[in-house]
Amino acid sequence: MASIRTLKYLNVVQSHLTKSFSKKAFIRQLNTSSRPTASQKGGAIILGSALAGFTAYGIFKKLQGQTVLDEKFKIVDSVLNHATVKAATPPASQPSVWSPGKDHALYLWIYLKPTANSKDVAKVAATLQKMVDTIVDPTMKDEEDEVLAGVGFGPNFYAQVAGKTRKNFVYPYRKGNLGDMPSSGGDIFVHAKSNQISKLFELSQLFINSLPKDSVESFEDIYSFVYQIQRDLSGFIDGTENRVDDEGRQLIAVEKETGGSYVITQKWIHNFNVINTEKTKILENWVGRERSDSTELPRKPITSHVARMTGGNAFQQPKAYEIVRQSMPFGTVSKEAGLFFIGYAADPKNFEFMLDRMVGAGGDSQCDDIMKLSTNVKGTYWYFPGQSELNKLA
Ligand code: HEM
Repeated sequence: MASIRTLKYLNVVQSHLTKSFSKKAFIRQLNTSSRPTASQKGGAIILGSALAGFTAYGIFKKLQGQTVLDEKFKIVDSVLNHATVKAATPPASQPSVWSPGKDHALYLWIYLKPTANSKDVAKVAATLQKMVDTIVDPTMKDEEDEVLAGVGFGPNFYAQVAGKTRKNFVYPYRKGNLGDMPSSGGDIFVHAKSNQISKLFELSQLFINSLPKDSVESFEDIYSFVYQIQRDLSGFIDGTENRVDDEGRQLIAVEKETGGSYVITQKWIHNFNVINTEKTKILENWVGRERSDSTELPRKPITSHVARMTGGNAFQQPKAYEIVRQSMPFGTVSKEAGLFFIGYAADPKNFEFMLDRMVGAGGDSQCDDIMKLSTNVKGTYWYFPGQSELNKLA
């Protein structure tokens, strides 16, 4: 009988092979009209060859001992891993930054006490990947249970522990006719993605318990979920115009000199009275797309969300700026529910352009109609240092 370890490796091979063809991924790709990248095609060829070798290997197993088999598996595993991660360009960014979404995400927003020793706290935060590895064994993990995590810091905290970033990332309070955007601050933020929500809970617990005693003032951990494949709780498909290819996502999200990334997080509480009673046509005009399948409206108001975000209300308006959105629905029916908005960019000015245009500060005094169906209750910017910058804090 095959050992558990052997079965696990079989899973790894199978999940790599089916990666691009799972139902969810397929629908996501339809929604986002993605094309496989050269590296993905190359990866498929390598994977195919790996599988052929793998079969021969099963026969070999019968002839040779388990130790030899393990060595062979290691080779197959390293080929597979190489095929899937080689798109990363140096300097490397943290695993959460441009990787695709999973079924669940953790958004862990931490405020420290003024008396906390920032350097000691940063030392712990910098070991995030080690924490991930204690929760999911890196030699055994597969797409189903892996955790892709990253840690970011608020401007004041980062200045204390590492000095200046290349770009300023202070998040101002914004006032708008359809609602305000509070500036909530914060010191440390963890973004982690996994298909298993329990792994995210474990990580959140471990991270908080590992921080130096008496250093945390307060924190909020939010766990998100995929709703109706890829819809926001308003029923609109979210992410249609998001880039899906690795190279494109890195280009938009990663500061090439450092591997760092600037991140916006905002907590939005949806107004379900409006969402459930307003006519679909009106909601569609607020968004700028049809609710059923995300078809872009040929004519849309300048106040529609799409027109605010791109920079104009022409059909297929060229985008002034782009970000990599990784927002997901969260909440409960009894209390509050909405969208946890998170976006990554190589420069915070991309967020500034979009936020200004939502609250009437974009030059034309127009506000974003999306704010009629949701209220922003919390928001700030973070810097997710590049992997080597983060290592220096440890
Ligand atoms: C309650 C809050 C929000 C909701 C429900 C929401 C929902 C949506 C939906 C349904 C779309 C259209 C489909 C798509 O391309 O993804 C969209 C597009 C977009 N949203 Fe949001 N969004 C929210 C907040 C924000 C914020 C705060 C930002 C930026 C800081 C933002 C940036 C964008 C961008 C860049 C696009 C793509 C526009 C395009 O290129 O056509 N969204 N959003």
